[in-house]
Amino acid sequence: MGYRVVVAGATGNVGREMLNILAERQFPVDEIAVLASRRSLGTEVTFGDKTLKTKDLDTFDFTGWDIALFAIGSDATKKYAPKAASEGCIVIDNSSLYRYDPDVPLIVPEVNPEAIMDYSKKNIIANPNCSTAQMVVALKPLHDRTPIKRVVVSTYQAVSGAGKEGADELWDQTKSIYNPVDDKPAKKFTKQIAFNVIPHIDSFMEDGTTKEEWKMMVETKKIVDPSIKVTATCVRVPVFVGHCEAINIEFEDFLDEDEARDILRQAPGVMVIDKREDGGYVSPIECVGEYATFISRIRQDSTIDNGLNMWCVSDNLRKGAALNAVQIAETLGTRVLKKG
Ligand SMILES: NC(=O)c1ccc[n+]([C@@H]2O[C@H](COP(=O)([O-])OP(=O)(O)OC[C@H]3O[C@@H](n4cnc5c(N)ncnc54)[C@H](OP(=O)(O)O)[C@@H]3O)[C@@H](O)[C@H]2O)c1
Repeated sequence: MGYRVVVAGATGNVGREMLNILAERQFPVDEIAVLASRRSLGTEVTFGDKTLKTKDLDTFDFTGWDIALFAIGSDATKKYAPKAASEGCIVIDNSSLYRYDPDVPLIVPEVNPEAIMDYSKKNIIANPNCSTAQMVVALKPLHDRTPIKRVVVSTYQAVSGAGKEGADELWDQTKSIYNPVDDKPAKKFTKQIAFNVIPHIDSFMEDGTTKEEWKMMVETKKIVDPSIKVTATCVRVPVFVGHCEAINIEFEDFLDEDEARDILRQAPGVMVIDKREDGGYVSPIECVGEYATFISRIRQDSTIDNGLNMWCVSDNLRKGAALNAVQIAETLGTRVLKKG
């Protein structure tokens, strides 16, 4: 016997990818419901070799459904996640709404799977921010070897992280630059994204940090260790899929770059591609459709006592969202629900 699974936001970037990954990983699904807003009622989406029609989330009854994977943004989540949870369905949510709630576990299964047991406090589990998820997969095995004191990270984030409207804006704007009569001014992003980079993701906070940067700091503490200090600069780049991060780590004790490379080679969810030659590293194009978080350019930082630098690349729609959500569902299955 398998699970009755709901995918809410099934017409979106993350929702479609969750359906692909549930099928690819042969998650034990007995029945699946695909939901979106009323405006896309009946839209066809693919699940394995099946074509399914979306239903209206607003009128859906979650009673008798085991797991709901949500990817609908914080506003709609606020309305529908408590309803689903109170109807007995466990929600795995991709929005930021519940990530900082002490009664909601925030999980990256390679890092803190044991936190899953706290799901029952609200019947809700949170999925981290895309840039946090890939970073903590790389930090945790190194932190287990010698504690991390501080992380300085700069991100290069793909437009699909801003939903399907973000991806459409890069596509349309790029075309319009070759055909200037069809002007496409910035709408989803704050400046032109085609042939440009924008050092601003999510809203500004009082101290000048952006919310995206704050999320990386707070979520790393919740998932890995509250003692790790993180400072981030998050940048949107004209790439469709695949987030990159230049990560500088300061450890309590010396960690040799070769040992770090070996630790990361053994780490779950990590793939090390690190040759010191032309092309001997991963760029976003190569990570699309992959499960792994790729680590390249591992090298000592000789400007501090115990420092390392690395380059981290992952498919933001997969490890950064849909894959991690499905891995949480798998963890819930094996540790708690035990069906299938
Ligand atoms: N993209 C990423 O890399 C990423 C990473 C981590 C987390 N997330 C989070 O995942 C969520 C979804 O992101 P996305 O990139 O998939 O966005 P998206 O491509 O814009 O898709 C949004 C989805 O939510 C649905 N939706 C929106 N408002 C709704 C409502 N009131 N009722 C029912 N359905 C509604 C949309 O349905 P319609 O088609 O009917 O409008 C669509 O299916 C967001 O919370 C985002 O922050 C995204």
